[in-house]
Amino acid sequence: MDWDKLGFQVIPTDFMYIMKSNEEGTFSNGDLVPFGTVQIEPHSTVLNYGQGLFEGMKAYRRADGEVQIFRPEQNAMRMQMGAERLLMVAPSVEQYVDAVKQVVHANKRWVPPHGKGALYIRPLLFGSGSVMGIAPAPHCTFLIYTNPISNAYKGRHTNSTLSLLIEDTLPRAFPGGTGGVKNIGNYAPVFQVTKEAKAKGFFDVLFLDAEEHKYIEEVSSCNVFMVKGDVISTSPTLGTILPGITRNSIIQLARDLGYQAEERKFSVDEFLEADEVFCTGTAVGISAVGSATYKNTRVEFKTGADTVTQKLFDMITGIHTGLLEDNNGWMVKID
Ligand SMILES: Cc1ncc(COP(=O)(O)O)c(C=O)c1O
Repeated sequence: MDWDKLGFQVIPTDFMYIMKSNEEGTFSNGDLVPFGTVQIEPHSTVLNYGQGLFEGMKAYRRADGEVQIFRPEQNAMRMQMGAERLLMVAPSVEQYVDAVKQVVHANKRWVPPHGKGALYIRPLLFGSGSVMGIAPAPHCTFLIYTNPISNAYKGRHTNSTLSLLIEDTLPRAFPGGTGGVKNIGNYAPVFQVTKEAKAKGFFDVLFLDAEEHKYIEEVSSCNVFMVKGDVISTSPTLGTILPGITRNSIIQLARDLGYQAEERKFSVDEFLEADEVFCTGTAVGISAVGSATYKNTRVEFKTGADTVTQKLFDMITGIHTGLLEDNNGWMVKID
């Protein structure tokens, strides 16, 4: 593997993990199997009704060669919340974390060298049992596969900033919907607007609330923060935005650094007056936003070395890769 050529391409690794729920409607035994295709029944609820969830995590290689993952129990709990919403049985936190550790261990040779990227971990939970009427599946499958990826997110160079297009008509999620969980059905409906934005040279779309088209929500795959003076704000998780694990960690790190970190609704007008803006997520890490465009007006934000965004980036990246002390006990080592 030429790690310097690593990007965001599909790279099958050696093993995946599969666990099927049993007759009692619980998960018991899972297995590591060679990576490959899965058989799925045509009547399965994931194919017919979109009864499915995914998660996203990363395994990082430290400078001493050890491999570690970030807060896996948080992803396990988020999957449980999603499973409750979609009426699926979910693995316990212990089962989830154990499965992730097993699959990363089995694919350890695919964890890029320190500083060259990470092994992306993709757990899926889906209704694999067949039903004819519109109803939840009688059994579910939990599957984890992995794929090495570089630090440069989807072709973007690590050091460049993001340009966002604020979408003023089409919302991503709505009250009572599934925006707050990692439902597979949340993603394809925004392909169209994000494709159009990318064709115009934007990195991604920033969505507003569905009712008033006024309040900042999130991007299609990451949360968003704004910095004004010493106050760092992000939208509250009231059901329409995903409770990001990076988001939660950044709020805590910002408070540790002495900033006031708030979760509150803020309007697009207030957002456009921010000093700095950044996005957070497992895939993007922390990425500075250089500009946002709303109704044909482009506003620029401060970026570069002397920013709050850079401080938080250095902190969380240092914790992920073992360069900084993990004072919160967030990292889990893979033996
Ligand atoms: C819609 C959405 N928002 C935010 C995030 C960021 O969440 P996390 O920090 O847990 O990766 C993701 C990615 O998981 C996402 O898909």
